[in-house]
Amino acid sequence: MEAVLAGRIMQRCRTSFLAEAVGRRRALLVGEGPGRLLVELLRTAPDIEVTVVEQSPGMIREAKSRIEKKGLHACRVEFLAVDALTWNPCVRGFDLIVTHFFLDCFGPVELESLIGKLGDSATDDARWLLGDFCIPKRGWRRFRALAIHATMYAFFRAATGLSARRLTPPDDFLRNAGFQLVERRLFSLGLIHSDQWVRRAP
Ligand SMILES: C[S@@+](CC[C@H](N)C(=O)[O-])C[C@H]1O[C@@H](n2cnc3c(N)ncnc32)[C@H](O)[C@@H]1O
Repeated sequence: MEAVLAGRIMQRCRTSFLAEAVGRRRALLVGEGPGRLLVELLRTAPDIEVTVVEQSPGMIREAKSRIEKKGLHACRVEFLAVDALTWNPCVRGFDLIVTHFFLDCFGPVELESLIGKLGDSATDDARWLLGDFCIPKRGWRRFRALAIHATMYAFFRAATGLSARRLTPPDDFLRNAGFQLVERRLFSLGLIHSDQWVRRAP
């Protein structure tokens, strides 16, 4: 997808709200893949401690090598090669959660349980940064996005055994977990969004 969709747009989406990480103490990155956001986070927030939950050991190896190539130190990063769906995080441990191009891998049942669980691991003032694909509400951009999504899900279901058949917007589940959308930025004619959600004490 990185190659097809012009990697620069996806990276702009990932790093769009990175400034919000400054001053955060403990970050949880789930489904981080090869570490494209991770290296930027380590640069931007030099004191932050990071836990990466990524089920693919190959992706973790790539992320570690990316950290090394950029001259950064992996000692602030804990890598867990586990399935996020069955992993049990510590309660109220993280003040930053980042999920880029990850939540769209799941159908509604898995997504609700996953977001509930990650929400339990977040502090009362946590931020949740996420980037994902989305579908514009109307017009030709909507039809363009629907066609791209159908192709994408068919491809990834065949190539990786992806369980989701279509995109499930995570918004309601995030609200149920106590988060409010602060800002949404759209990229590639509304095909991709980058969000900043914040949990506020009731
Ligand atoms: C589409 S890639 C996105 C990677 C990266 N976040 C990015 O921005 O490019 C999804 C990543 O989530 C990981 N993943 C998928 N299901 C997972 C699960 N249940 N638990 C942990 N990681 C998972 C995959 O191995 C893959 O690296």
